[in-house]
Amino acid sequence: QPPLKIALAGLGTVGAGVAQLITQNKDIITRRAGREIQITAVSARDKNKNRGVDLSSYRWMDDLSAMASDDDVDVVVELIGGSDGPALTLARESLSHGKNFVTANKAMVAHHGDELATKAEKNGLAIKYEAAVAGGIPVIKGLRDGASANRIERVYGILNGTCNFILSAMEKDGRDFAEVLADAQANGYAEADPSFDIGGVDAAHKLSILASLCFGTKVDFGAVSIGGIEQIKAADIEQAAAMGYRIRLLGLAEIDGDNGGSALFQRVHPYLVRKTHPLAHVTGPTNAVVAEGDFSGRLLFQGAGAGDKPTASAVVADIIDIARGETGPMFGMEQKHLEQLPKAESGHR
Ligand code: NDP
Ligand code: HSE
Repeated sequence: QPPLKIALAGLGTVGAGVAQLITQNKDIITRRAGREIQITAVSARDKNKNRGVDLSSYRWMDDLSAMASDDDVDVVVELIGGSDGPALTLARESLSHGKNFVTANKAMVAHHGDELATKAEKNGLAIKYEAAVAGGIPVIKGLRDGASANRIERVYGILNGTCNFILSAMEKDGRDFAEVLADAQANGYAEADPSFDIGGVDAAHKLSILASLCFGTKVDFGAVSIGGIEQIKAADIEQAAAMGYRIRLLGLAEIDGDNGGSALFQRVHPYLVRKTHPLAHVTGPTNAVVAEGDFSGRLLFQGAGAGDKPTASAVVADIIDIARGETGPMFGMEQKHLEQLPKAESGHR
């Protein structure tokens, strides 16, 4: 088979990780994809920045519109970020020009996923976004493919690595919130605007995507009730511990009734988690997603939720799927067109 030619837009934490992984594991990736994955073009704002990875053999493209229509590109991989702006324009243009599209951008998927999925379906193209939810954990594939025979009753978990890193560092040695946040930023866990992390918005983006997938409804980010961890003090953590609890930022979605049924509840807030619960033992930038299926029972997906290597692992898995011709529906487990998915009535508890 001919090589699958990809363009990388964005060469920050995740983009550089993807370039490194494709080079470092070239043999194994080629074998599993059944063809070579070839980077043919790259883009970022600053051509001269040292990114710790050798990009000299790739064609540099400043013009993202040109990348979207380039004949030497089969798949555009968007690792820029932001719900709108250049990422969204690139997504729209790539799909218009017949390119399959891979992204780690949960903000864009939560806000514009419906539009992009519809466009992709109409053009017979794939959009893949495994890395957008829970970093390196294959939770989209795990739920969509592995749990597809189940009626999912509830999905919840730790969906933001930065918050979990902060909360668990504060509880371990009473470190200052701002100092731990700075560490999370230095490690590449935080969003470009870290208020999205600590304010719960990033977890809400991910929750709305998971809810859509699990309940077969349209993504409804606007209906998520959102709270963050900005107000949590070391004293709160100590007091919770004294009562047998740990504080975790959780996202939780459940539907009241059958798929597409009456009301979808989605919320992201700090919760008191009993020390005996598995989620209380999830520390650092780790994420954990629990899904309760009527036949599978409780499924727990756990792993690195942020960082260059784990996130690159999920991005490249999506690229390999496209190379193999495995695309699957973007949202929902049903082989339905997006337009047929119901919009659940939202509710708050
Ligand atoms: P970074 O801020 O590290 O990287 C963003 C990259 O985009 C940079 O290389 C930047 O260029 C480039 N960029 C910005 N604007 C433009 C533009 N107009 N044209 C071309 N390139 C541009 O972000 P991350 O790598 O951390 O995140 C990327 C995406 O992955 C986001 O959607 C994020 O939410 C998501 N994600 C991140 C995870 C993580 O752990 N970091 C985990 C899961 C998902 P330059 O370097 O020159 O400034
Ligand atoms: N900022 C995000 C987090 C990156 O901390 O979880 C992974 O999506």
